[in-house]
Amino acid sequence: MSERSVRGGVGPLVLGIESSCDETGIGIVRGHELLANEVASSVAEHVRFGGVVPEVASRAHLQALVPTLRRATEAADIDLSEVDAIAVTAGPGLMGALVVGLAAAKALAVALNKPLYGLNHLVGHVSVDLLDHGPLPSELAALLVSGGHTSLLHIRDITGDITELGATIDDAAGEAYDKVARVLDLSYPGGPVIDKLAAHGNPKAIRFPRGLTAGKDQAKHRFDYSFSGLKTAVSRWVETERLAGRDIPVADVAASFQEAVADVLTVKAVDACNYLGVDTILLGGGVAANSRLRGLLAERTEAAGITLRRPRPALCTDNGAMIAVLGAEVVAAGRPPSSLEIGADSGLPISTVLV
Ligand code: KG4
Ligand code: ZN
Repeated sequence: MSERSVRGGVGPLVLGIESSCDETGIGIVRGHELLANEVASSVAEHVRFGGVVPEVASRAHLQALVPTLRRATEAADIDLSEVDAIAVTAGPGLMGALVVGLAAAKALAVALNKPLYGLNHLVGHVSVDLLDHGPLPSELAALLVSGGHTSLLHIRDITGDITELGATIDDAAGEAYDKVARVLDLSYPGGPVIDKLAAHGNPKAIRFPRGLTAGKDQAKHRFDYSFSGLKTAVSRWVETERLAGRDIPVADVAASFQEAVADVLTVKAVDACNYLGVDTILLGGGVAANSRLRGLLAERTEAAGITLRRPRPALCTDNGAMIAVLGAEVVAAGRPPSSLEIGADSGLPISTVLV
């Protein structure tokens, strides 16, 4: 069987544009087949600020868009006139950054006379695994862990029926990584750095809190997360050690923090699958690249008889391929295209797949 038929056969040729944060992503897919995934990141320009500066990100998108688009069409070896549809992130994200991608997508749609699909960035994150593991079962759960969002989802149809079972009540998991990295004087973004350091540390060195797992929280927050107490606990621990003049065992702090995050994310994810009665869970978002989260979730889902679907780490952080493949799915489902009048929505809820 050819790779193409394993991946679900041919489908619509879709160009995906992603510009919600600091990555300018252009992806090209044919159905579930990845043809190109070019990403230009402005992360280096934000490092000295310890976080993304919206104005700097918007300007970088403007500069990177056309060259990235060119690289993508060359890599996919297609002409833009061949695409069946233009898919673009319409939200959530940084307003000024979203507007750049949306304007480019509208211009392409008009110039090429192709339908436009304004899509949800978060649904893109949980769709990207279609490129690695093909069609989804009719019903499943998803754990979405990004820099701005952390949610447990119930998916009946990735193109239009997604409900949120629970979400973080304060910081997102990625945000906690970035904040803890700052406390430890590590560079931005914190996730990849902490992930690497943690490999050399002892995850049991310090017992950090697991938010909203105590009995009293189960009734009200069974499927919700909280990472702000964890961040504060790490910060206090480090401060106490510094005041006492002791060296900070950075690798141990990183590993212990990472263990707390992975533990609580995975415990609640398995509980959500059991509660929903689904046998598959999908992992998505930047933090889905995390080695300990991937490993622990694999262990715990296997023990519970649940199939785990996780995209390769390179597809977890923001990219255009995730928007392109969601676009292909939406086109294949026969959903009507977006109006050319749509605007960016920085607070687009996850239940709105297509604007
Ligand atoms: O999904 P994403 O690329 O952007 C948003 O939509 O927010 O996620 C970015 C987040 C950052 O907070 C970054 O620190 C985190 O994903 N991240 C990681 C890893 N790689 C990226 N967190 C933990 N471990 C990683 N390996
Ligand atoms: Zn993202």
